[in-house]
Amino acid sequence: MTTKSTSAVPTADWVDPAAMLTDPYPTYRRLLDESPVAWVPALNQYLVTSHEACRAVEANQETFSANVTTGATAQMARAVGSQPMVNKDDPDHARERQPVNPTLRPGIMRAHWAPIFERNARTHLALMREQGPDRADLNRDYAAPVAAQNLIDLLGFHDVEVEVMRRWSNTFVEGIGNIFDEPETWRRCDDARAEVDARLEELVPYYRAHPDRSIISAFANAGMPMTQIAANVDLVISGGMNEPQHAITSTVWALDRHPEQRDHVLADPALWPAVFDETVRWLSPIGYYPRETTRETVLEDVRLPARTMVGILVAAANRDTTVFESADEFDITRPRHPHLAFGGGVHLCAGHWAARIGIGEIAVPILYAELPGLHVDSRRDEAWFGWVFRGLTALPVAWN
Ligand code: HEM
Repeated sequence: MTTKSTSAVPTADWVDPAAMLTDPYPTYRRLLDESPVAWVPALNQYLVTSHEACRAVEANQETFSANVTTGATAQMARAVGSQPMVNKDDPDHARERQPVNPTLRPGIMRAHWAPIFERNARTHLALMREQGPDRADLNRDYAAPVAAQNLIDLLGFHDVEVEVMRRWSNTFVEGIGNIFDEPETWRRCDDARAEVDARLEELVPYYRAHPDRSIISAFANAGMPMTQIAANVDLVISGGMNEPQHAITSTVWALDRHPEQRDHVLADPALWPAVFDETVRWLSPIGYYPRETTRETVLEDVRLPARTMVGILVAAANRDTTVFESADEFDITRPRHPHLAFGGGVHLCAGHWAARIGIGEIAVPILYAELPGLHVDSRRDEAWFGWVFRGLTALPVAWN
C-alpha cells in the first residue's frame, strides 16, 4: 500500500520500474487510485499521474522546468551531444521550435507531405506483401520502414537508407534511456552522432543555398549554430520514428482485439482520425517525460521541494477515469476529450500533425484497404516492451 511519511508526502515505495517494462498499466491504475502525485523512491522522483495534475505541470514552465539538471536531461544531452529544444524553457525553447513549425502545420502536411507519405506506405506495403502472410511482421516489415522513410523525407536526408535511420533512431533512444551509464551504449551514440554530423556538414550549406520544406532546411536557415542544429536533428531522429512506428502496430493490434470497431471504421472511413486518437490515448507511445521544480510548490495538495525531479506519466493520465469514462476500454466512439499522448503546453509534440496524417490517415488505412482480412497471426508470438517508450517489438500479421 502507498504509505504516508512523517511529512505526509505520499510515498509509493511499491513501484517497481523493472516490472513496468512488461506491463505498466497496473502500476498506473494503483498510482491514480491511491496517490496521483507520489514520491517514488525507486526512481528518486515524484510521479504525477492524474490528468489534471499533468496538465497543470505542462501549463507552468516557470515552476516545472524542462531544463532538468539531473538524470534524464543529462542523458538526453549526452545522447544527442547538446541540449535540444525539448529540454529548454522559453524563450530559448521557442527560438529553436519556431523554425520547424511552418513545415509541420496541417495545411503543408496535406498539400506537400501527404503524397510523399502515401508513396512510402505503398512502397513498403508491396515489400511486406512479398514476405507473404505466413512470414510478415508488421513491425519489422511495415511500421518501422514506413516511419523511417517518412522521417528521412521530413528531415531532408536524401541519401540515407531506411536501415541507417532505424539504427540511428534506436541508438539515440537507447542513449536517452541509458540510466545505468553503459559505456557501449554511449559509444554507439557517439558513432551515430558522428555519422549524422558528417551529413549535416554537407546538407546545412546546401539548404542555405537551396531552401525547401524539410526540417533540416528550416533549422539551417534560422541562424542556429551547428551544435544546436545537430542536437535538434538528433532529437527528431529519436522521437520522430519510434512513436509513429508504435502507433501503426498498436492501431492494428487494438482493432484486431475489437473486431466490431474495426468493421465500424472500415464501413465509415471518416472514423480513422478518431481511431488514431483513441489508440494513442489507450496505448500511449511515450509514457513518461521529466520536469524539474524551480521552486517549492504544491501540486494536488502535495508539497514539492525546489529542484526536485517530477515525472509526468501521460500514459497514466490518458487512463484517468475522472476524465475518460471506462478509461481502460478501447472505444473509438468515446466523446472527444483532449488526451495527453502528444504532451501539452509549449512542448506539445512538434510532429503531431505528421503523425496524425502520415500514420492515422495514410499508413494505417492503406493497410486495411490493400490487405483484405488483415489480422494478427496468433500462430506466431507478438512482443511488447517498455514504459517510458512503449510499443510492440514484434507483431506477426496475416491476410486473406
Ligand atoms: C505518434 C507519434 C508521436 C508521439 C506519441 C509523440 C509524442 C511526443 C511527446 C509526448 C512530446 C513532448 C515531450 C516533452 O514535453 O518532454 C513530443 C515532443 C516532440 N516531438 Fe513528438 N511524438 C510523435 C511523433 C513525432 C514526429 C513524427 C516528430 C517529427 C517529425 C516529432 C517531433 C517532436 C519534437 C521535435 C518534440 C519536441 C517539441 C518541443 O520541445 O517543443 N514527434 N512528442
